[in-house]
Amino acid sequence: MSARDTDWEGVRLHVVTGKGGTGKTTVAAALALALASGGKRVLLMEVEGRQGIAQVFDCPPLPYAERKVAVAPSTATQPGGEVFALAADPEQALLEYLEMFYNLRHAGTALTKLGVVDFATTIAPGLRDVLLTGKAAEATRRREGTRHVYDAVVMDAPPTGRIGRFLNVTAEVSGLARVGPTRGHADTVQKVISSPETAVHFVTVLEEMPVQETLDGIAELAGLGDGGLQAGGIMINMVHPLVLSPDQLRTAASGSVDEDELAMELKAAGLEDSRRLAADLAAELTDHARTVTGQRAQRRRLAGAGQPRYDLPMIADGIDLAGLYRLAAALRDQGAA
Ligand SMILES: Nc1ncnc2c1ncn2[C@@H]1O[C@H](COP(=O)(O)OP(=O)(O)O)[C@@H](O)[C@H]1O
Ligand SMILES: [Mg+2]
Repeated sequence: MSARDTDWEGVRLHVVTGKGGTGKTTVAAALALALASGGKRVLLMEVEGRQGIAQVFDCPPLPYAERKVAVAPSTATQPGGEVFALAADPEQALLEYLEMFYNLRHAGTALTKLGVVDFATTIAPGLRDVLLTGKAAEATRRREGTRHVYDAVVMDAPPTGRIGRFLNVTAEVSGLARVGPTRGHADTVQKVISSPETAVHFVTVLEEMPVQETLDGIAELAGLGDGGLQAGGIMINMVHPLVLSPDQLRTAASGSVDEDELAMELKAAGLEDSRRLAADLAAELTDHARTVTGQRAQRRRLAGAGQPRYDLPMIADGIDLAGLYRLAAALRDQGAA
């Protein structure tokens, strides 16, 4: 395997957040594939019970178990790799936790029947979070002999609006448990999340609101955990290729497209009703140019955050496995994995 420098050498837990609907799940899946290439084993984990990963990979709903969902394509020089997926569920994680710390293997089912698990995770959202981040930390650190079971873990995390609380494990459970295994567990999890082994990536599109949430989210990380959490990359999703030259863009954005000239060309091309068509086209061009100009402004704002940025293309026909491979290749080409 050839060594290859990426921007996130040493990071083993990749937390992917972003405003809802910007492509968090899709990009997390693409990142997992990208990290898997070269013969690696990667765990992709979701925590919101939406079965988003199953949808992205077009497979049946995932159980609370790690199973292989995809292979990274091999190339002439590199072997493929494997992506495993897990839909983490706070109840299952709580039962696992009780087993681990209190040897309550059999109590688990009884507790579930009594609704205790439901109760515990409902009254204490902080507990819910630490169970999920705890599962990610456990998978990240898990070893078989001296070797890590997973080379990397990618978490499709809650959206930016909730990511701070979600990752601020110790503060969240401190009111809940001051001593004992829960507290000890929370501290261990926080250590993993706050370590250089963890990075929090942000998925955004080039619009005002998601960009603002990205900037706020990055700023928020500095105040979390033990001395701040490591901000990762900014994945700019659904980028359209540029079709206009800078000159054309300026003209169109200022609304001064030459409609007469356009109409003449349309007519020469044999199109009927060329006047009206020219007016419609000119309006659309102006619209498009203004969107592109606005997107440039959003890019400048993102650049101000000082984090590495990666462009991911808009996949025109919807996301299937081939589309995911394209996004994974884009991430690798730009050094994200
Ligand atoms: N680069 C892309 N090109 C085209 N469609 C995309 C892209 N990224 C995401 N999508 C689509 O956008 C929708 C939302 O994506 P999803 O990953 O579910 O977002 P989130 O997890 O942030 O809610 C889905 O239909 C997905 O297929
Ligand atoms: Mg999602």
